[in-house]
Amino acid sequence: MDVISVIRTKRDRGELSPEQIDWVIDAYTRGDVADEQMSALAMAILLNGMNRTEIARWTAAMIASGERMDFSSLSRPTADKHSTGGVGDKITLPLAPLVAACGAAVPQLSGRGLGHTGGTLDKLESIPGWRARISNAEMLDVLESTGAVICAAGDGLAPADKKLYALRDVTGTVEAIPLIASSIMSKKIAEGTGSLVLDVKVGSGAFMKTVEDARELAATMVGLGTDHGVRTVALLTDMATPLGLTAGNALEVRESVEVLAGGGPADVVELTLALAREMLTAAGLPDADPAKALADGSAMDVWRRMIAAQGGDPDAALPVARERQVVTAPASGVLTRLDAYDIGVAAWRLGAGRARKEDVVQAGAGVELHAKPGDVVTAGQPLLTLHTDTPEKFDYALESLTASYDIAPAGTEFTPAPIVLDR
Ligand code: URA
Repeated sequence: MDVISVIRTKRDRGELSPEQIDWVIDAYTRGDVADEQMSALAMAILLNGMNRTEIARWTAAMIASGERMDFSSLSRPTADKHSTGGVGDKITLPLAPLVAACGAAVPQLSGRGLGHTGGTLDKLESIPGWRARISNAEMLDVLESTGAVICAAGDGLAPADKKLYALRDVTGTVEAIPLIASSIMSKKIAEGTGSLVLDVKVGSGAFMKTVEDARELAATMVGLGTDHGVRTVALLTDMATPLGLTAGNALEVRESVEVLAGGGPADVVELTLALAREMLTAAGLPDADPAKALADGSAMDVWRRMIAAQGGDPDAALPVARERQVVTAPASGVLTRLDAYDIGVAAWRLGAGRARKEDVVQAGAGVELHAKPGDVVTAGQPLLTLHTDTPEKFDYALESLTASYDIAPAGTEFTPAPIVLDR
């Protein structure tokens, strides 16, 4: 088998054989296929797609590239969730401790930022001392003792995805349904969770821009999960507007802690509760009351123990960017659009994300929103605050914001889109 013939098959719109798929995933994982060859194949897949048979085989090969975990020794049922990626999507941070406070065990293997979207691990690493990389034994310990763990997948779990995910991030090959579905599901199936709730994002800030594409991605992933014995449910949720009022690493941790303290933006609370209910039902705990666990502080207790168990100081001050710049509203009226993609690109350019896979993200960088669609704004009021340690990036970030919002005349009737679009 040689890699050029595999690339040519997909470049010429052919179907990859099971042997080609098994071989290329294994050879890439071992380093026998180079990054430039894999990125050519990823681009051919992005442009020409894969059918369900190819996706199932590709996913199985990624699972087989590493170890499989086993949580059967835990005393509680396991429930996990995965988001397909969005802007301001900090939901995992309050959700994992919340679901744990309601009685499930939440093994949350999370990722880093991808393209303009943020990553849970990059966010949590802004907490002084917190470690994303822990051994499998430590992961089980944290899970047993606190009920929830958020960490990086160990090197042994779906190593093919680890390499491919970093490569796709910097080669414009993220937005492909077969690659997203196999990336997410290989990790989740190898992780060994009993149930999984997928938060499939739709809109400008998501990798899926239309409801049709999001539905196809959701159906592909639910099919993969179900075939591997994982109870899998998907929600389609809005990502035309950033979630909450922050996009950036430490900025989003601060907002998540507000939610755990019983406050926080309404959309973040609503989606956190909707996903918590799905996870608890999938885990066989339909009568648990996540709203109560937020209100009575039990979710916050789990958060504090979970952060401390991984070396983090839940009371430490979060990093703050050295420089700020405010973007003001050019007119008075009703804000009818605040584009998630543009805000995500701005946060990324300010230093919250990576341009090259070896880049280090800035903990304090990002964008703070002062209004959301539906809000009345007054000319000259702050609309956004940009945060960065590298002020030379302000102009570059501002370029992505020139057409990022619409303000309609005062009195315009406007109803923001619902957060949960479908199940
Ligand atoms: N999240 C993943 O884990 N993989 C993708 O490809 C996209 C989002």
